[in-house]
Amino acid sequence: MICLALTGRTLEENYSYVQQYRGSADLFELRVDTLDTIDPSSIIAFSRFVDKPMVLTCRRERDGGRYARTDRTRGTLLVKLLEGNFSFLDIEEDFRKYEIEDQCRKRGIAVIRSIYDTSGTPGDLYSRIDSAHHRGEIPKAEVAARSVEDVITVFNADMQLSHIPRKIIIASGQWGIPTRLLYKRTGSFMTYASPADENAGAPDHASIESMKNLYRCDRVTGKTKIFGVIGNPVMHTASPRIHNPAFHELGIDGIYVPFMVDEVRSFFKLADILGILGFSVTVPHKQHVLPYLGSITREVKQIGSCNTVIWERECWKGINTDYYGFLKPVMDEIEDEHIKRCVVIGAGGAARSVVWALRNHRCSVTIVNRTAEKAQRLARETGSSWVPMEESGSIPEADLLVQTTSLGMEPDTSDALPHYRFTGKERVYELVYKPKVTPLLSRAMEAGCRIIYGRQMLIAQGMLQFESFTSREYPFPDDAVVF
Ligand code: ATR
Repeated sequence: MICLALTGRTLEENYSYVQQYRGSADLFELRVDTLDTIDPSSIIAFSRFVDKPMVLTCRRERDGGRYARTDRTRGTLLVKLLEGNFSFLDIEEDFRKYEIEDQCRKRGIAVIRSIYDTSGTPGDLYSRIDSAHHRGEIPKAEVAARSVEDVITVFNADMQLSHIPRKIIIASGQWGIPTRLLYKRTGSFMTYASPADENAGAPDHASIESMKNLYRCDRVTGKTKIFGVIGNPVMHTASPRIHNPAFHELGIDGIYVPFMVDEVRSFFKLADILGILGFSVTVPHKQHVLPYLGSITREVKQIGSCNTVIWERECWKGINTDYYGFLKPVMDEIEDEHIKRCVVIGAGGAARSVVWALRNHRCSVTIVNRTAEKAQRLARETGSSWVPMEESGSIPEADLLVQTTSLGMEPDTSDALPHYRFTGKERVYELVYKPKVTPLLSRAMEAGCRIIYGRQMLIAQGMLQFESFTSREYPFPDDAVVF
């Protein structure tokens, strides 16, 4: 079940959420503490008006809520509110009041006993969960995870506490996103979503819309194939919007989840526990994963970085779809030898994939980079030539110019190669995809050059990842949102 927390400041606001999301949420949690005015009779009337099961919660300030009055006042308030049509009461582990428990018993309201610990993952978490269960209550632990190890503790709960049929064990914040999406794998019968925040800059993985329609996390079973992306940061990633809709389109029982990762070694442990079958790798872990791979492709070895890991023949295999994703839009012209002479701007991680891809396909490459030593090093390693940035006005004529630096990426507005004059004959391949047209591309377009956009590579590498995860062709579903 997916529970939507109603955290509006008024009952009217909350009711608008109920109307908007009643098709997606299985139940609602009324957070009485976030209301500006707590009027028991209106709250009771509200509970009777909502035609879905409801959880009653009044969270204290010290537990991260907004209720500032005394425990005694809160106890009296809750006894009164329990006259409403609530299916559950969420109450903290340290708060016991006979009248509340008695009222719940009489009215058939199940008690969710919340275990909080803002200090991280408590060492006695499992025994505290067990005690609540023995009192006939539903234990709920919301762990403040701060590392992959904390997330592992939450996922291990299912193994240790499988005798408790109704429990909720999830982790909060960014680290906790996988536990909220894969709640059934923590043995939880319920997870929590928030209303969609259209103003949020980053994709909101825990919004009700995402949980229900993108991740379809209520459909996850023990058989669901789990994939994901690891990084730090990682929550800005668009990859779940590439892969999840494609699973749905092809009827594949799979889910693709973002994982914040500090220690790659711990993530491999988690991957084992969850039976993860493949994952994308983003900054800063593209090199960190290498020691854990049982096999790597020639490109991964050359480039020294891996962006895709798959479980194949009982071991982890590392591939680099950036390499092939880059080649895809220009491959025909390389094979026809319309592209032979190339210039690459930059000498960092992205440039390594590009230069090796071009060199492996018999193109000549000239590297231009701000730091001359890095250009020189990459040139030596790949058998390319290089020129200092100051001399970029005199770069030899090229069939293809590739821009791999972050120059021109939002919010930056600089031209990556201001002294270069386009002839109009070269193709210009920009790896920056936001904005679609960078200052460099804008000049190239004016000169009449053919343009290859960064999003073409991004989509191509995502498709290749999907194909390596599933052995199926990417179906281009209508609801796949790349940006
Ligand atoms: P990525 O993995 O995206 O390639 P990276 O490995 O950090 O990231 O490489 C960044 C590239 O962008 C480098 O070529 C870097 O030039 P330096 O080698 O001189 O650092 C280039 N770059 C980043 N910011 C730059 C700037 N302000 N001006 C010029 N080049 C820049």
